[in-house]
Amino acid sequence: MLQTTFLTKQFTTPLVLASGILGVTASSLKKVTDNGCGGVTAKSVSLTPRTGHPNPTMMGTEHYFINAVGLSNPGVEKAVEELKKFRQMTDKPLIGSIFAGTPDEFGEVATKLCEAPLDFLEVDISCPNVSKEFGRPFAYDKSAVEAITKKVKANSNVPISVKLSPNAWDIDEIAVVAEACGADAITAVNTVSGMAINVSARRPYLSNKQGGVSGPALFPIALKCVYDIYKKVKIPIIGTGGITTGEDALAMIMAGATLLGVGSAVYFRGQDAFAKIIAEMESIMKSEGIKSLDEIRGCAHL
Ligand SMILES: Cc1cc2nc3c(=O)[nH]c(=O)nc-3n(C[C@H](O)[C@H](O)[C@H](O)COP(=O)(O)O)c2cc1C
Repeated sequence: MLQTTFLTKQFTTPLVLASGILGVTASSLKKVTDNGCGGVTAKSVSLTPRTGHPNPTMMGTEHYFINAVGLSNPGVEKAVEELKKFRQMTDKPLIGSIFAGTPDEFGEVATKLCEAPLDFLEVDISCPNVSKEFGRPFAYDKSAVEAITKKVKANSNVPISVKLSPNAWDIDEIAVVAEACGADAITAVNTVSGMAINVSARRPYLSNKQGGVSGPALFPIALKCVYDIYKKVKIPIIGTGGITTGEDALAMIMAGATLLGVGSAVYFRGQDAFAKIIAEMESIMKSEGIKSLDEIRGCAHL
């Protein structure tokens, strides 16, 4: 009922773990594949290890999470070791993820991460929390999107998905540029820029002051991004942002998504969030008489 073909690969369910939620260690990624996840996206990695921002880096309410982890990661070499281990544990699809400071460096990290046998490579050009270091996210700028997409495509041995930012007003036009430059898919979206202030302390909660908002509050924003992008490109979309229930998941498919990235739902509903979302999807599909996801993909456009 939930079988999904993404590019040429079969996914048992359309749910994939979103990048950054459970790191790059093989054991934590494997755990979610046992729990209803069709595939996993590893945390974004850079050429060299990064410690990220000092604590506190996360806070949450019942409506949203806000984080400024600052892309902490063990570096691409360590990530390759872990992802090779993951590959030996399961044949569930694996999406690697990279970020870098320049197009050339993106190309270099892509080549290195592709040494782990990946199924797909996600290109994170949209983290809102590292602007002090890297300036404006590349995802706001068509010429940067063009240069990075071409470079990564030329340096990868698997299909690539470019991950976009909901802060880009013209996200659909940015997706068109990525598609024209060789992207095989679009991941929409990363977190949206935001902040939270602790009233007793009279200061922002996060050491970085601002952060990226995820979870239920992001859902309607992500849904519109996917809807707008679906109208403009032919390549498939990994709809990501705030998906917490089976109803959210089906709405995202109706907006046009093929796969569904799920991240913060793990904080809201526990490690078995994927199994719960799948059970809800199946129950709604049954009561609505929906036989397959292909039947409803993009139907909100008609
Ligand atoms: C703690 C945390 C770390 C994240 N790290 C990354 C990352 O390394 N790379 C990336 O592309 N996205 C990262 N994201 C964004 C998620 O992959 C996802 O796009 C976003 O959280 C929206 O989905 P959600 O509402 O289901 O969490 C991170 C999100 C969170 C909450």
